[in-house]
Amino acid sequence: MIPFLDLHRQYQTIKSEIGPAIMDVIEHTAFSGGPFVEKFEENFANFCNTKFAIGLNTGTSALHLAMEALGIGPDDEVILPANTFVATAWGVSYVRAKPVFVDCDEYYNIDTKAVRNAITQKTKAIIGVHLYGQPCDIDELLTICNENNIYFVEDAAQAHGALYKGKVIGGFGEMACFSFYPGKNLGAYGEGGGITTNNPNYKDKLFSLRSHGSKVRYYHDEIGYNMRMDGIQAAVLDIKLKHLASWNQRRNEIANRYFNEIGNHLVNLPKIREDVKSVFHLFVVTVENRTDFMQYLANNGVGTAQHYPVPCHLQKAYNFLNYKKGDFPNSEYLAEHCVSLPMFAELTDNEVDKVIELINNYK
Ligand SMILES: Cc1ncc(COP(=O)(O)O)c(C=O)c1O
Repeated sequence: MIPFLDLHRQYQTIKSEIGPAIMDVIEHTAFSGGPFVEKFEENFANFCNTKFAIGLNTGTSALHLAMEALGIGPDDEVILPANTFVATAWGVSYVRAKPVFVDCDEYYNIDTKAVRNAITQKTKAIIGVHLYGQPCDIDELLTICNENNIYFVEDAAQAHGALYKGKVIGGFGEMACFSFYPGKNLGAYGEGGGITTNNPNYKDKLFSLRSHGSKVRYYHDEIGYNMRMDGIQAAVLDIKLKHLASWNQRRNEIANRYFNEIGNHLVNLPKIREDVKSVFHLFVVTVENRTDFMQYLANNGVGTAQHYPVPCHLQKAYNFLNYKKGDFPNSEYLAEHCVSLPMFAELTDNEVDKVIELINNYK
């Protein structure tokens, strides 16, 4: 079986480092926040070339706290793509603002023309998602934000280490939100998330919000949350961070093979912008008869997945916003036809050969 993703294989390659690192956290009883989290924050900020990184418990919390730190609230609107994991929108909803969805472009990322049309007096921010590991059109989004005096936030949950015009993502907007969910390019051994920023005011606000609204223990300046990263996750992430560049490189090699060697008119390959370097969190193709294609690959021992079968604007949770089918044709087409091929650094060349051969023989 060639799985869509196999985290166990990656663990085998770093097992000797992981065990002692976890024991070290336990020996120091540094379970929640503390020195291991601080060390990871410093290293992750360096990796993203930002001044600060704030470790959190999930990527969803990152999006929530980013909205709150920007002061976004009821009556405000935030523009975001319909084609994303729904948590991009949760942060907006948690602060009681209105998510305003827009369609995706040919790269499956937020369509900047649609963004321009969606701006109103109430728009306070745009969330640009670097979906599947590919940076969105950051410069155009920053231009729109500057022209309209609104904030730009990156949802970088799927794009640790991706480059936009040669610069690593994470420092382009007010804040960038990361997920360290286990299956991500940089994944914890449990839940994890974080925010990068260059702005010390946001850093202070986020430190306070993630820890009960408190700077000094048991003195609470504002209503906060418990969204701290735990020590064991930070220690695991710190080890994995050292391997991330080579893992991303291997993902790129596999993606290049898929691009160069898959040739089947029934299978449409994704498009990558010329000015970016994707980290291929996912390799998403579209196929007219998706069920048949996925079944064919499964029958031949290849696992696949769908990211995502329902776009945000058609999720039941957002019925109250009154979107309807047909509103965002690109996102809807993708939702109905997307197939994610096996993609993780430990896939062997033989396995990649087999996936390519099977796809090329699909009729
Ligand atoms: C684009 C995107 N945004 C947000 C999230 C939420 O992150 P988490 O699962 O860590 O809460 C995820 C991943 O799950 C994601 O893929």
